[in-house]
Amino acid sequence: MSADNIVILTGAGISAESGLGTFRDEGGLWAQHRIEDVATPEGFAANPQLVHDFYNARRAQSLEATPNAAHVALARLEAEHKGRVSIVTQNVDGLHEAAGSKAVMHMHGALDGALCAACDHRWSAPLVMQPADLCPNCGQPTTRPDIVWFGEMPYQMDQIWQHLRDADLFVAIGTSGNVYPAAAFVQDADRYGAHTVELNLEASATISDFAEARFGKASEIVPAWVDEVLGG
Ligand code: NAD
Ligand code: APR
Repeated sequence: MSADNIVILTGAGISAESGLGTFRDEGGLWAQHRIEDVATPEGFAANPQLVHDFYNARRAQSLEATPNAAHVALARLEAEHKGRVSIVTQNVDGLHEAAGSKAVMHMHGALDGALCAACDHRWSAPLVMQPADLCPNCGQPTTRPDIVWFGEMPYQMDQIWQHLRDADLFVAIGTSGNVYPAAAFVQDADRYGAHTVELNLEASATISDFAEARFGKASEIVPAWVDEVLGG
């Protein structure tokens, strides 16, 4: 199978073995926090301190985390594959970049970004953000994590749709397939003629949309799959 253009969708599961919690697994983030309190614009308006505390804790944790063998294998694939390899990640950690991947689109934003809710200015987030922080551009106390919350539009969607149209191979790694539009990317890639593969610990909610599936820990099955794509 000549897989010139490979598009890889990653979710929290690829970072699980780096010590970063997933959302919907046993004891996951949504078992500890209410989505409406910490991952919606309404929650932020109601209690910005709670939301900053939630992302300050995740930012600190993500800085302690190191890429695992799955992140490293995807960086090797990008470096050695003859065609184009692009990662669309739902994750807000920086582990793909830390492993050496260059073509990474963060559709849900990233923990290292800060955004001004008043003037849309973006800058590099400090380790700890507080509601009283002033925007360096407009000077107002309207800073928020540069994270896409429920009900908000994901980032870089035009580029993502273009990559899905051009994909010969679409692979989803470590995502439960519960959140749209990411969960529908496999259907789009399939419609445009790509071969579709799910690499996951267990079957996702969209498993029936995939042509092929392999189950196991990402740190084990992703390097093995990359070896195959690169011809061993
Ligand atoms: P959602 O994405 O969970 O959508 C709500 C429900 O609507 C889904 O669970 C699904 O059942 C249904 N649905 C939505 N789109 C669908 C589709 N194309 N086909 C079939 N069913 C569909 O929650 P939401 O409030 O709509 O938020 C969606 C937006 O929020 C997306 O842009 C997503 O990227 C973003 N988001 C960000 C985060 C984050 O933490 N960064 C988390 C979740 C969602
Ligand atoms: N290896 C491979 N897959 C794993 C591993 C592992 N070691 N551990 C867990 N998984 C799988 C789980 O089986 C599950 O299918 O990773 C998936 C994690 O699913 P979620 O916790 O729902 O995370 P994700 O799919 O990324 O959530 C999507 O929802 O709330 C939002 O912002 C959040 O971007 C996130 C989006």
